[in-house]
Amino acid sequence: MDMFEKIQELKREKNAVILAHYYVDEDVQKCADYIGDSFYLAKVATKVDAERIIFAGVEFMGESAKMLNPTKRVFMPDATADCPMAHMADIEEIKKVKEEHPDLAVVCYINSTAEVKTYADVCVTSSNAVKIVKKLPNKTIYFIPDANLGDFIRKQVPEKEVITNRGFCPRHVAITLEDMQMAKEMHPDAKVAAHPECTADVLEEADYVGSTSGIIDYVVNTKGDEFIVATVDGVFPKILEQAPEKKLYRVIDPQVCVNMKKVTLDKVLDVLENETNEIILDEEVARKAMIPLERMLELAK
Ligand code: 13P
Ligand code: SF4
Repeated sequence: MDMFEKIQELKREKNAVILAHYYVDEDVQKCADYIGDSFYLAKVATKVDAERIIFAGVEFMGESAKMLNPTKRVFMPDATADCPMAHMADIEEIKKVKEEHPDLAVVCYINSTAEVKTYADVCVTSSNAVKIVKKLPNKTIYFIPDANLGDFIRKQVPEKEVITNRGFCPRHVAITLEDMQMAKEMHPDAKVAAHPECTADVLEEADYVGSTSGIIDYVVNTKGDEFIVATVDGVFPKILEQAPEKKLYRVIDPQVCVNMKKVTLDKVLDVLENETNEIILDEEVARKAMIPLERMLELAK
């Protein structure tokens, strides 16, 4: 029996499902029951009725799944797979900005720790951030932790004051304007799709800006054979599965998220076999952090 078959057998035996983000390797995506962007996976987590969830992604995703479905046991294939941006919001700074702006909504990207979420009014993902910020009654928004997604929201929602802090995704900010211009020179007929975690000058060069699912849909459904894709290239297999004729170009090589890369097939098998790396959250933190997550699910409808 190969590793893939063993995983399928153990899933049945242990009443487990695998949720995988588009950024994990293709072989891990192939053994998953659900693959998607962070918003889709958060929604799926509320509906799963298996006893165990194996989350092939980074820590904040597993934590969110646990908070949204607390009676399920959630396991991470690699306990150290963590998104550095999730730690880039400062609690003291949040308290200070709240004091300075009484009519403030703290809008927290789901790429954040459970503790940071306890200070938020609502969570968002890259696929629903603009929609949710528009719906909020507050005129002033403190967007944490990603400054680049915050800048993107500010442009899309000019009627609100959007304050940002200095968080960033190391992978997406590594794509510079020069890299993008060079890629466009090399592929002059290609359309450009970019994730909003890229810097504003890079996004200016894009024909489409959206979440990983949005990028996949855009490339699959847009006329044209060539696309420059400014995000982690874990999205490539899903695009090529649906549109094998498309030519996809990276802006820089490689375009990998080192933390997502830690999630390998043998670690998925190991966590199913040995039930290690279970997500255990402080009850009070989980209760408080679930409120902005549930508000996101409500406002994104
Ligand atoms: P998505 O919301 O598009 O899944 O993105 C998550 C992420 O971590 C991007 O770097
Ligand atoms: Fe975090 Fe960036 Fe990796 Fe997304 S790509 S999980 S934001 S480090």
